[in-house]
Amino acid sequence: MKRLFAAMVALVLVTCAMSLSAQTILSPNGNLQLSFELRDGVPTYSVDYNGAPVILPSRLGIDLVGAGDLLDGFEVGEVKDSTFDEVWETVWGEETHIRNHYNELLVQLKQPNTNRLMNVRFRLFDDGYGLRYEFPRQRRLTYFTVGEERTEFALTGDHRVFWIPGDYSTQEYDYFDSRLSEIGALAAQYAPSSDSQSRFSDWGVQTALTMKSDEGVYITLHEAALVDYSCMHLVYNPDTKTFTSWLTPDAIGNKGYLQTPCVSPWRTAVITDDARELLASRLTLNLNEPCKIEDTSWIKPTKYMGIWWDLIAKKSAWSYTSEGNIKLAEVDYTALKPHGRHGATTENVKRYIDFASKYGFDQLLVEGWNIGWEDWSGKHKDFVFDFVTPYPDFDLPGLQQYANERGVRLMMHHETSSSIRNYERRMDEAYQFMVDNGYNAVKSGYVGDIVPRGECHYGQLMNNHYLYAVEKAAEYKIMVNAHEAVRPTGLCRTYPNLICNESARGSEYHSIGTIHPHHVTILPFTRLQGGPMDYTPGLFCMDINSFAPRNKAKVRSTLCNQLALYVTMYSPLQMAADMPENYERHIDAFQFIVDVPVEWSQSRYLLAEPGDYVVIARKDKNSEGWFVGGVTDEHKRTLEVAFDFLEEGKEYVAKVYADAKDADYEHNPEAYVIYEGRVNAKSKHKIEVARGGGFAISLRPATAADKRIKRLK
Ligand code: NOJ
Ligand code: CA
Repeated sequence: MKRLFAAMVALVLVTCAMSLSAQTILSPNGNLQLSFELRDGVPTYSVDYNGAPVILPSRLGIDLVGAGDLLDGFEVGEVKDSTFDEVWETVWGEETHIRNHYNELLVQLKQPNTNRLMNVRFRLFDDGYGLRYEFPRQRRLTYFTVGEERTEFALTGDHRVFWIPGDYSTQEYDYFDSRLSEIGALAAQYAPSSDSQSRFSDWGVQTALTMKSDEGVYITLHEAALVDYSCMHLVYNPDTKTFTSWLTPDAIGNKGYLQTPCVSPWRTAVITDDARELLASRLTLNLNEPCKIEDTSWIKPTKYMGIWWDLIAKKSAWSYTSEGNIKLAEVDYTALKPHGRHGATTENVKRYIDFASKYGFDQLLVEGWNIGWEDWSGKHKDFVFDFVTPYPDFDLPGLQQYANERGVRLMMHHETSSSIRNYERRMDEAYQFMVDNGYNAVKSGYVGDIVPRGECHYGQLMNNHYLYAVEKAAEYKIMVNAHEAVRPTGLCRTYPNLICNESARGSEYHSIGTIHPHHVTILPFTRLQGGPMDYTPGLFCMDINSFAPRNKAKVRSTLCNQLALYVTMYSPLQMAADMPENYERHIDAFQFIVDVPVEWSQSRYLLAEPGDYVVIARKDKNSEGWFVGGVTDEHKRTLEVAFDFLEEGKEYVAKVYADAKDADYEHNPEAYVIYEGRVNAKSKHKIEVARGGGFAISLRPATAADKRIKRLK
């Protein structure tokens, strides 16, 4: 285990009995104030930021099924407050060390007419708060079923908000950028995804969502440490300007099954008047438990390519034959005629391995390597994949050896088709097969309706499954990148082999032309607040039709915007998503993808405004190099980079990859310029970015030989 790095830990406990007056704590720097009060027996909290209210008095509590509720009739028992301050070391992350500093308030609540106990624990950081329910071991509450959680966030105005509809089974939406009061009308236009039971309400939204008040205060609502509980959506009430929690139901409409002693996940709000601090916040990670894996030496940030984009873009196929009715246990694939468009053939995979090896990639993902893709989705099938049998034209051991000889590893793919019964039954065999064949990373997927039927992707049963898959993978020293799984809530601190998730609309939607330029300026403030995303950047050929004859979609981004994403979208797992032949056409720009690391020691958030632009600088963990990325939305703009993050007194050479003057995501997306210049900590440099554009910069310390290079203006 990465040792906890306790710089200073101060713990002060104050106990006051039976207090009925408001309990108040301040954040360590005093900017935030959180108060708890019982109002007519109802637990209520509120939060001020710099002396002004930001969360108005908001109720707390839980409805139980068939057993009264835990909403009112409470008395305050003991109240404890304390302080915590430590620095912990990351296994991987945006920086090597993270400070976890908060003031805590624990309020013990008693319901005299039922003799039940429920505690609320608040942690107040300089940049926000977390609160959770705790149910101690007690005689009058052992097993209980959650009907609904009623945590409120009462807001002070009709804020601007970046949100996606409250769908129980997918987050793969374009973000809305609206006022809170517009959520209902906008969401009503959207049909719920086919595989979700239904969206619960037109006023329902998913977290993480980010708001901005007219006074310029940003608030991000989310949850942390989602374990053995159902995922929290929020429903907005325009009359009271209040969001209330709304948990994902199970197949029979219940919201969770708990046994005391237990705790809920943390309900969180990051609060700041500087959008860059939303990006710098570590509140979600800090509210998760320390790393539970003793030896983490096998967990390695990874840059990879894949037999993937050609499948998604419909150039080739996952399947091997045109057969439409497959019973896996009965079919003999060697007797079936191949349709000739299979992507994962030995020959094609070798071509990718050669390219990945030439440019120093760690791994090559291969999708469509295993039998079953002819008939895998939309059928509620139980036994759909076996995860261990390659197609006849995929020489698995030969290819793993071919890759290893060239310094590359194959990356496993487990599409479960959401049949988790099947996956859990076969998991040990599937993971052992990976170990036996030299794999150490799996991309898993949960496309389609969940089997067992009627369950949703974000219910308690599925959340327990995702974590089971990660914990079991750790036993086999396997890293997991789960697609379609529940959105991350910082659990990667506890289980760093959960190397990535999808859980949002990823780059694959460029294959149908439905990623809008603002998307990558919103994700860092929303989806990425919970953990890294396998966004799969690096698309270099924007006219998909030029290589996939049946696909007329266009990638709606400039090439330099694609480069910038390796810095602006933090992830320890980064893909170069395009195909070797498309990289060959712009090999000078591809150099940035080759150079950019996936392990960082520091990050600096230079410019940020949700929905408009993001500029971030990060330092390589293994060299003195820095890398900068900047993206814009559908507007062209000038972004000025101040290099004051560089070491004082030291000279660097900056290599800039910028949109060409006439670049534009719709009309000229692949046009770029590359130039070099010397810079130091006092330098500033203005870059014009195109509509849907961006820029990337690599910086290395200058040597004597670099004297000839001109200073960057
Ligand atoms: C959806 C995933 O997001 C995508 O990356 C994958 O290729 C397909 N499912 C097939 O598993
Ligand atoms: Ca997906």
